[in-house]
Amino acid sequence: MNRRYRKTIIAGNWKMNKTATETKKFAEQLKAVLPKAKWCDVVVCVPAVNIQAAVKAFRDMRVSVGAENLFYEKSGAYTGEVSADMLKDLGVKYVIIGHSERRQYFGETDVSVNKKVHAALEAGLHPIICVGETLEQREMGITMELIALQVKAALCGVGAEKVRKCVIAYEPVWAIGTGKTATAAQAGEVCTWIRTTIRRLYGARVARSVTIQYGGSMKPSNAVELLAQPDVDGGLIGGAALKADEFTAIVNAANQD
Ligand code: 13P
Repeated sequence: MNRRYRKTIIAGNWKMNKTATETKKFAEQLKAVLPKAKWCDVVVCVPAVNIQAAVKAFRDMRVSVGAENLFYEKSGAYTGEVSADMLKDLGVKYVIIGHSERRQYFGETDVSVNKKVHAALEAGLHPIICVGETLEQREMGITMELIALQVKAALCGVGAEKVRKCVIAYEPVWAIGTGKTATAAQAGEVCTWIRTTIRRLYGARVARSVTIQYGGSMKPSNAVELLAQPDVDGGLIGGAALKADEFTAIVNAANQD
């Protein structure tokens, strides 16, 4: 972490978990244990149908609500989709874009990720852009090239001022939901590389202001070590974000002064 230049952000990604009723219950549990997060921002990204309940439930807790996806068109005949303006209007601040599960199961591509990043920024949302390699790609030795490509594609056509509003989440696909965490050194190496990639595109000032998260089996027992890496500015947390006590423990790891 480096708090001098950029925000530390701990974000939960609930994926397809919890009903609106359970959202309310989780907020009550979190309220009982979550301290005032002075040194980091706390975000909870919830399924679209729970957004209203989440915005209401987290309102007085300094917890921002995020969405897990959006569609890039402004409006029209796109049955089942949700636009950036619709999210913004509900009080959403962040939106996850290009999560590996969406790339894997729902045909998300670098091109659609880029369109979604533009749509989110235009609506005043902060995109949390996910990048990451599969185990096969890591073993082939192409991780760095692939990550640079994903970052460049996601940010294509995005101006320097807007890039500062973006968060990049490095999520190695092989570490998601598997209990296999990247070592702190592996996470740190790729997050530093992401910042190098941004620096080459936008210069040092912009690069040092962008929050870069790690995601993939992050939990209370490994959060401190991962967050100690200079270019790991937070976490995008799946499984451990579903339990108020575990999520709080990770926030506490990021919230030490
Ligand atoms: P897990 O923390 O469950 O591995 O999920 C990580 C993730 O995909 C967050 O977006």
